[in-house]
Amino acid sequence: MYNCGLFKFIDITDKYGHLTPIEGKIDIPFDIKRVYYITKVEKDTTRGYHAHRKLHQVLVCVKGSVKIKMANTKEEKIYTLDNSSVGLYIGPYIWREMFDFSEDAVLLVLASEHYDESDYIRNIDFYMEEAKKRF
Ligand code: TYD
Repeated sequence: MYNCGLFKFIDITDKYGHLTPIEGKIDIPFDIKRVYYITKVEKDTTRGYHAHRKLHQVLVCVKGSVKIKMANTKEEKIYTLDNSSVGLYIGPYIWREMFDFSEDAVLLVLASEHYDESDYIRNIDFYMEEAKKRF
């Protein structure tokens, strides 16, 4: 799907456990300016409901599982993230919703920019209007 995709990162496994390195501009296509993580999401809660104008993000479910719905004006797709060495890239102008968080889910997000509320489009009608020129 346009402006979305999966990355498989290295999983360095030894008798001491697993280690997954993610380097900006090497393993993902942007420098990482911000990291945040989402935890303890109640059952039946859906988060997201927005798109970004400029921001690039990679989502990694480092523990548990979560479903991510991505949509543009023409198509939509749902990915299940349940592998700590897989990242889901979401670029500009993709509407996203995160749901079905397992109780233990930890969703790590790597972002290309500092937090900027003016980069969000939080209204689906405004999103459809702005995005229709792009798809
Ligand atoms: P939001 O991006 O809407 O979360 P989600 O898409 O997971 O539902 O952010 C929730 C709140 O947290 C909102 O008030 C903005 C704030 N926030 C920050 O202050 N800094 C950040 O880096 C992020 C991602 C959110």
